[in-house]
Amino acid sequence: MKNAIETHELTKIYNNNFKAVNSLNLEIPNKSIFGMLGPNGAGKTTTIKMLTCLIQPTSGCATVCGYDVQKNPDEVRNLLGMVPQQVSLYKDLTVMENSQLCADYYGIPADERDSRIEDLMELVDIEYARDKRVGQLSGGQKQKASLVASLVHRPDILFLDEPTIGLDPTTKRTLWDLIRELNDNGHTIILCSHDMHEVDMLCDNVGIINTGNLVAYDTPQGLKDSLLEENKKELTDALSEIHSENEVSKSTQEKLENLSLRKMSFLLQNHDENIVSNLQNMDDVRSVEIARNGRINLRIDAFDDMVVQNILKDVIASGGIIKSIYTEEPSLEDVFIKATAEVDEDARA
Ligand SMILES: Nc1ncnc2c1ncn2[C@@H]1O[C@H](COP(=O)(O)OP(=O)(O)OP(=O)(O)O)[C@@H](O)[C@H]1O
Ligand SMILES: [Mg+2]
Repeated sequence: MKNAIETHELTKIYNNNFKAVNSLNLEIPNKSIFGMLGPNGAGKTTTIKMLTCLIQPTSGCATVCGYDVQKNPDEVRNLLGMVPQQVSLYKDLTVMENSQLCADYYGIPADERDSRIEDLMELVDIEYARDKRVGQLSGGQKQKASLVASLVHRPDILFLDEPTIGLDPTTKRTLWDLIRELNDNGHTIILCSHDMHEVDMLCDNVGIINTGNLVAYDTPQGLKDSLLEENKKELTDALSEIHSENEVSKSTQEKLENLSLRKMSFLLQNHDENIVSNLQNMDDVRSVEIARNGRINLRIDAFDDMVVQNILKDVIASGGIIKSIYTEEPSLEDVFIKATAEVDEDARA
């Protein structure tokens, strides 16, 4: 089977006549990690809820490992694990008891059950709280407990709805390692997140949802490359407009300011106004900003590979002693901001 998940014109209209998901067509390859991005209220959780049989689609259909979510919900439920956005464990039961309940629901043999749970607890570092009631745990501890309960039946497909929110940096890394390990072992992962770095690092494919519509779908690098291409075109258009007009229009100016160009940043040992003004006069330098910490931050066109080299040469030739330097490509965050910039206010209401 090629795709773990397929949706066809999947739509959800809530009772109040609000269309939260609008004719979604999505394919998530088997054994891949898929990242779902989108602003608050975009329809991510609603999509996940339909795919995990928690709510019924209004129209359209979806399959999980070939099983239809409406016709074969039991088969679908057996294949998947879910860490919901709002932890849904029993508050009055302990971490251990919650996991046991889940294991029993999926029919895990009694002689395997507790050792599986204990291994998972150790993996996410929550065994110290095994006998604590979930209602008495901190936010991050609850997330970990929820993770253990969702993994105990070793699901083929794991849905994680903002799983690392509220986790400390060390635990976050442990969870990333765990996600990679699960994926290496053949599990398909669907990850909703607002953490662009997390999605960029982990995911094979990324879908961006905006007001219930899929507005972009590609690999993280593919999304960034197309943004760069689009910007290149916009920049060329804007520059030719500047050359052909005496007065630069406000919209052209705005466009130039908002383009996500490559960034370059220096820290000089001998900060000198001459160096800064030289940089300001270079053709490929769009803007120069001196940050509070003394760094010189540039936005550069950089569509030509020699630009970085030329800027460096210029700084050195003007007597600059470079203490540190980095360059930055347009990020997934830039892609997200552009893809979700056009909001249909009617669709949000
Ligand atoms: N039970 C419900 N009844 C009516 N409207 C709902 C219901 N659940 C969600 N919505 C609406 O559907 C839209 C999509 O919500 P959803 O929870 O899917 O967003 P999301 O992309 O997961 O957002 P977030 O990033 O904030 O978690 C929102 O406008 C929300 O108000
Ligand atoms: Mg959500």
